[in-house]
Amino acid sequence: MSRVGYVGGSYLPHRSAAVHIEDRGYQFADGVYEVLAVIGGHLVDEKPHLARLSRSLAELRIAAPMSNPALNVVVREVIRRNAVRNGIVYLQITRGSAPRDHAFPTAARPVLVITACRNRPTNPRAAAEGVAVIIIPDIRWQRCDIKSVSLLPNVLGKQRAKKAGAFEAWQIDRDGQVTEGTSTNAWIVIADATVVTRQADNAILNGVTRLAVLDIIGREGYRLVERPFTVAEAKTAREAFLTSTTVELLPIVKIDEELIADRLPGPLSRKLREFYQADAAAVG
Ligand code: PDD
Repeated sequence: MSRVGYVGGSYLPHRSAAVHIEDRGYQFADGVYEVLAVIGGHLVDEKPHLARLSRSLAELRIAAPMSNPALNVVVREVIRRNAVRNGIVYLQITRGSAPRDHAFPTAARPVLVITACRNRPTNPRAAAEGVAVIIIPDIRWQRCDIKSVSLLPNVLGKQRAKKAGAFEAWQIDRDGQVTEGTSTNAWIVIADATVVTRQADNAILNGVTRLAVLDIIGREGYRLVERPFTVAEAKTAREAFLTSTTVELLPIVKIDEELIADRLPGPLSRKLREFYQADAAAVG
């Protein structure tokens, strides 16, 4: 079955779906995006994803191409046309196409692209055995709270991780504090089973999975502190894990050369992953 994408108002086969060569997303990375999971035919956490999309658009003063209820309909149609029961929806909005000029164009209309693919790139071994992360400097800009398509530092960081045989790279700010992964949020579990994750400031993307896990922690009565943590603290933590829409929650068993939790996925990480999966499967 051939894939269908939504581009600037039309549903098109992937091979003929295209944006203009002067699209500002292409020339300036002047756009935002969201990645949503589909489980059992239902969108997971659609509301917070669309709320974050609206916020990203507002921060960059890009007009929404359609209302959120209209977007709901189009996203569902893309899922239907691609027969996705379990998979991923990618949604991108750029400021539109216009003759190249850094300042905002006066006449451009925002361009919405939506694609969907069957199967999420989940790796059961990664969840069962845990993954490794490396530490790299955070070379990104000061508005990482905006889900912008400008991802070059993230691309370079993930490639460094891949080359090092690691799953992810945790980025550290100038004070030696971990901000987040290149496409995931960062967590540790310290003594007395307190979960620590950086507060949602401009240095990180406030992950929708992060918010869901914070809810679970509150609901199940685990201890939590939202604050920055250092690499040294992470390396001596009881447990560490990462979260995102695509990988849900993965335990970390190695940070650089340091083994975490005796190289075994920690019990709290495993528990939180189970709660998260149960909640995600219960939608719809
Ligand atoms: N990435 N931090 C960064 C820098 C991210 O790019 C992402 C998501 C997250 C986690 O956010 P969420 O839980 O809402 O997925 C944190 C997506 C999945 C991506 O770029 O593919």
